[in-house]
Amino acid sequence: MNKFYLTSPIYYVNANPHIGHAYTNVICDCMARFQRMKGKEVFFLTGTDEHGEKIQKAAKSQGVETKDFIDSKVDTFKKLWQSLNLSYDFFIRTSWQDHKETVKKVIEKLYQKGDIYKSKYSAFYCLGCETFWTKSQLIESGKCPECQRDCEKISEENYFFRLSKYEDWFKKYISDNPEFIRPAIRYNEVRGFLENQSLTDLCISRPKKRVTWGIDFPLDDNYVVYVWFDALINYISGLGYGLGKKEFDFFWPADIHFIGKDILRHHAIFWPIMLKALDLEIPGCIFAHGWWKIEEEKMSKSKGNIVNPFDLIARVSGLLGDSKDMATDAFRYFLMREIPVGLDGNFSLQALVDRINSDLANDLGNLVYRSLNMCQKYVQGKVKSISGQIPVEFQQKFGNLEKNYDQFILKGDFYRALDLLFEFIGVINKYIEDSQPWNLHKAGKENQLADFLYNICEGIRVVSVYLYPIMPKTASSVWDQLGLGKPSFLLSDACWGKQNSFLIKKEKPLFPRIDVN
Ligand code: MSP
Repeated sequence: MNKFYLTSPIYYVNANPHIGHAYTNVICDCMARFQRMKGKEVFFLTGTDEHGEKIQKAAKSQGVETKDFIDSKVDTFKKLWQSLNLSYDFFIRTSWQDHKETVKKVIEKLYQKGDIYKSKYSAFYCLGCETFWTKSQLIESGKCPECQRDCEKISEENYFFRLSKYEDWFKKYISDNPEFIRPAIRYNEVRGFLENQSLTDLCISRPKKRVTWGIDFPLDDNYVVYVWFDALINYISGLGYGLGKKEFDFFWPADIHFIGKDILRHHAIFWPIMLKALDLEIPGCIFAHGWWKIEEEKMSKSKGNIVNPFDLIARVSGLLGDSKDMATDAFRYFLMREIPVGLDGNFSLQALVDRINSDLANDLGNLVYRSLNMCQKYVQGKVKSISGQIPVEFQQKFGNLEKNYDQFILKGDFYRALDLLFEFIGVINKYIEDSQPWNLHKAGKENQLADFLYNICEGIRVVSVYLYPIMPKTASSVWDQLGLGKPSFLLSDACWGKQNSFLIKKEKPLFPRIDVN
């Protein structure tokens, strides 16, 4: 089908966004842009998760009305997405009336099916994760197995969703569909979890005497909906499920839900079972990426090591001669290039600067700058194809790129896709050294020189197409310098020989070398 529906998690608004949040959404944006390049009709959904005790407590601690507190955080998230040049199609807020309506319909439907019941319950509650645990699941006598914080014992009556009813179906589904959870390490994690324990029913309500900041539970005025149950439903309410919207029929099921590895259980277990119970199709893939750390430590307020993406972009922009566009693209590139798919990585400004200097200034920037300079110098910027043949020196790496770039990106493996692209850039740079165009010029070998200039321009054009999903502003600037007019950026543009001539505009280097000290 010619559609692609992808989602980011919806972000808690109890604190400001940091580079970890930026990471998930940049991955989503690169995928969205890539799918549009393939000619797909794309729907990219992001948004904010606005309910639950944590948020209520955060607002209270600042002495602000909960709603005002949330609205200002939502603005901050939106500003960040704008500054990272994200091309999302809809921003969902769980406080949105249509979302609440959908949550209500979902609960009513599941109740009518007999999949929701009320029961007395006693368990250990983690406020950080807003999750109940049984005694045997706790670690170090009393701590949450996910965030290692202390849990509180709570006994209360609540509503439950019958996860256990679907256990057999789910186990079979998982073993028949290894691609459902990616990368493989996360798939194995879920399988391991299922082998070691049976599924217990999910508590989906919270009594109002304890938590008031939530969606009213449709079956009982004394309760609100558990924040995670409400939150997961955003993936269908964002398309108008239950409200007769045509977007839902067209785009559902999701092709990919991008998440961080910490919220795997909710997405890879609860969510498909909720969908099965609703008789809806199961998404194509849950993709769980790794975490950004600072010197091997988790980012946290108490350690004071949180990297604020606004400050970071402002700093890098200053280093790059006040270019916010370049800084944004460099940061996007760094996030996609620095850590192999699924693994954790360490963030530091020095690592970002090193990437800018080695890949963006030396390899890419230099290639574009000196190539276009030569075009100006030798043929006054007018470059034309003579033989139309791809040079033999390019064939292997270009072939690799054509064959595998697409496959890597579809698997969320931006790291290896960019590796291929930069290998090709390396080959063009080497071709320039080896061809010694200055000697061709001196010796009056006009045709050979013309062929050479065309090859490097066509190589750069192809590079800019592949670069587009990751660095859209840079790709457009290269496109413009090659005199190609309004960028279209379709993957089919990446074939050799698509462009016959170029009219080069000389510009300043794309990325200067920078120094933090
Ligand atoms: N609200 C839930 C998600 C509900 S989705 C139906 C939530 N929100 S969150 O704001 O805490 O986290 C959102 C995303 O940011 C998660 O995917 C999480 O993995 C990611 N990250 C948070 N810190 C991170 C890093 N340090 N590094 C990479 N990503 C991290 O969970």
